[in-house]
Amino acid sequence: MCGIVGYTGAQHAAPVLLDGLSKLEYRGYDSAGIAVAQDGAIAISKVTGRIANLQEKTDNGRLVPGTTGIGHTRWATHGAPTDFNAHPHASNDGKFAVVHNGIIENYLELRQELTRKGYRFESETDTETIVHLVEMYYQGDFQRAVMKASARLRGSYALGIICTDEPDRIFVVREASPLIIGLGIGENYFASDVTALVAYTRNAIYLDDGEFAELTPDGVQVFDCTGHPVEKKINRITWDIQAAEKGGYEHFMLKEIMEQPRAVKATIAPRLKNGEVSLDGMDIDLRRVNKILITACGSAYYAGCAGKCTIERLCRIPVQAELASELRYADPLIDDKTLLIVLSQSGETADTIAAMKECQRQGAKALAIVNVVGSTIAKLADYTLYTWAGPEIAVATTKGYTTQLTVLYLFALYGARKLGRIEMEEYARLISALKALPKQMQQVLDMNPAIEKLAKKYHKHPSMFFIGRNTDYAVALEGALKMKEISYIHAESYAAGELKHGTIALIHEGQPVIALCCNEAVTEKTMSNIIEVKARGAEVLAIAFRGNAKIVSLADDMIYIPKSDPLFCAAVEIVPLQKLAYYVAKENGCDIDKPKNLAKSVTVE
Ligand code: M6R
Repeated sequence: MCGIVGYTGAQHAAPVLLDGLSKLEYRGYDSAGIAVAQDGAIAISKVTGRIANLQEKTDNGRLVPGTTGIGHTRWATHGAPTDFNAHPHASNDGKFAVVHNGIIENYLELRQELTRKGYRFESETDTETIVHLVEMYYQGDFQRAVMKASARLRGSYALGIICTDEPDRIFVVREASPLIIGLGIGENYFASDVTALVAYTRNAIYLDDGEFAELTPDGVQVFDCTGHPVEKKINRITWDIQAAEKGGYEHFMLKEIMEQPRAVKATIAPRLKNGEVSLDGMDIDLRRVNKILITACGSAYYAGCAGKCTIERLCRIPVQAELASELRYADPLIDDKTLLIVLSQSGETADTIAAMKECQRQGAKALAIVNVVGSTIAKLADYTLYTWAGPEIAVATTKGYTTQLTVLYLFALYGARKLGRIEMEEYARLISALKALPKQMQQVLDMNPAIEKLAKKYHKHPSMFFIGRNTDYAVALEGALKMKEISYIHAESYAAGELKHGTIALIHEGQPVIALCCNEAVTEKTMSNIIEVKARGAEVLAIAFRGNAKIVSLADDMIYIPKSDPLFCAAVEIVPLQKLAYYVAKENGCDIDKPKNLAKSVTVE
């Protein structure tokens, strides 16, 4: 969940580290720090709070001289967000400093052992054990000490380590946490993800689990865990710098909401060839597949819930959507006829990775739908389909979610055609419907004043209900999550037909209920549920297709969206809810891009 960076070269390192950290801040933002080697010592500067505090403390890095250093932005796991617990952590002799992303599972036993041996701990973190281990194993050979220390660790870790004896040398180690090396000329970098590197280089090496690397200004050498050199492919980073900047928008979230038509188009366009859906690299024999299991966390799971409805309808294969955090311990019924679909924007979500590994172990083939190229999930998958959303920085996902939906729709059409379960005429009609999504999303985006006005009306309510059926219910789940995570308003999503089995007891005078009424097969049923909550005093905001005149007489407020095919409409229907959450959060003065307690990429269990 944390972000780590490192630099070695001829430049003043601290400003480069601070710039990289500011790009990684979305990964964690409760404290931050840098360590720079200079004149036989390591200067460490740390703060509680945001990178801006660290920039101020170090005068934008000017107060920390030196050309090799490491940096960290933290999402606290072990120990509160304080200066003491902030990384980098230093060894007792001051020779080493380490930054770490991940969790050391055996840290308690290591801590006890190190304490017994006389090492003094300054923090409550699991990370501090690493730097003391390096000191313990150091007998003049930095690389050997790093290898021996790493061999003692259990858990997930991406590490950056510097040493005063070799001030222009950094060791990085990767085990189940992302780590990318950026290659420059006369300088080299590392970071948790490419957003921190794009301003400096386009050439990158993705480390694999169990590998470590030595970075100096003149070169990079990667090794396997036994110390044997490994030849690595140099990858070209395709994301541009602007994609990771706000580009004039007040928040990344708003920018990313607005980018959705383009992102969805970029996800669809390369996969439509001569009127057919073509999914490169997919050589799955779908006739052998007797069950599709979708797994993911958070919004990606909700995309899976919506995609389940569309895939089942078109492919006529049973589809089950399961939360990865549950699936990993559920002893699922899986065999080699199960196709696992794994959804993840970051490609680094710990629970999703664990569930995926478990299903693969039991024989399932895994198709990953991922945004980040080269991420762990993309690497582990048997087949990968990228969502070409570009970097997503805001913690609340928007374009990540809608592009995941888009790939699921493409897959549903592809599968139906491969299995011969769709008439050509219907197939062609649905392809046109899919191609229409970006334009329809744009039309919703152009409705700004109306949604802002609704946000002003609803922002003071302490709780909201989101109801719908079938795909509308899947959208309700995501709409409620958006509202909760950025505005801190209690929002509950409910299958509309379930209300009267208990939850309707919570409906009272003035209670806002957001009713999703776009799936025409069930709209009339949802309308009955609207009548039921209205009878108990609820204030109803309904989302429906333009032209649905019946709902207007029931709801207090309406958002009309362009008519899209019910199989694909979740991608359009979610857009007003993203905007509503955004403007409600803005009215309430919330920190929209960095909501409290959250981090973008959840790399711990
Ligand atoms: O990177 P992933 O798609 O695997 O992330 C999954 C969830 O952590 C993520 O969707 C989370 O729920 C977002 N904060 C929702 O906006």
